[in-house]
Amino acid sequence: MKTLIEVKTGELSSARRDFIKKSGAIAAMSLFGVAFFTGCSSDDPDPGAGPTNPPATGNGISVTNSAVTVNLDLATALAAAGGWALVIEAKVLIVNLGNNTFSALTSVCTHSQCDRNWTFGSNVLTCTCHGSRFNTEGVVLTGPANQPLRSYATNLNNRTLTVNLA
Ligand code: FES
Repeated sequence: MKTLIEVKTGELSSARRDFIKKSGAIAAMSLFGVAFFTGCSSDDPDPGAGPTNPPATGNGISVTNSAVTVNLDLATALAAAGGWALVIEAKVLIVNLGNNTFSALTSVCTHSQCDRNWTFGSNVLTCTCHGSRFNTEGVVLTGPANQPLRSYATNLNNRTLTVNLA
């Protein structure tokens, strides 16, 4: 088992949304220290332009080949309704839906397989590679993607969330 990088969490505040609108998603994600770019397609931004990942320690998220385990006492941004995380190494998006329910979806976009250029707000996951939007069940709201995101089963046991990748 290895410790993962918790990449991006939390609902955007209105001030932050305004900042993103003004500055663009690239600058905003850089603010959060996120490794932002993947090789998606030839029209994507330069993969080398993104910052490096933050240190992979103490974030409460770990992964094996078969599961992602989240200690909600440590991964505090996922602990509240509306919180979310992109677990890069597992290629999983996790959203806290409230009432002790979670959604776990592949982060590999069904359009051109970008796997880490995601934002979340107003219950919508957006792949910023080309703007596809999905609801928290992985259903396409706006293309160019035309296939849903794969969903994974989740289990909450006290303060430990398990995402079954099998
Ligand atoms: S890879 Fe094109 S919208 Fe996600």
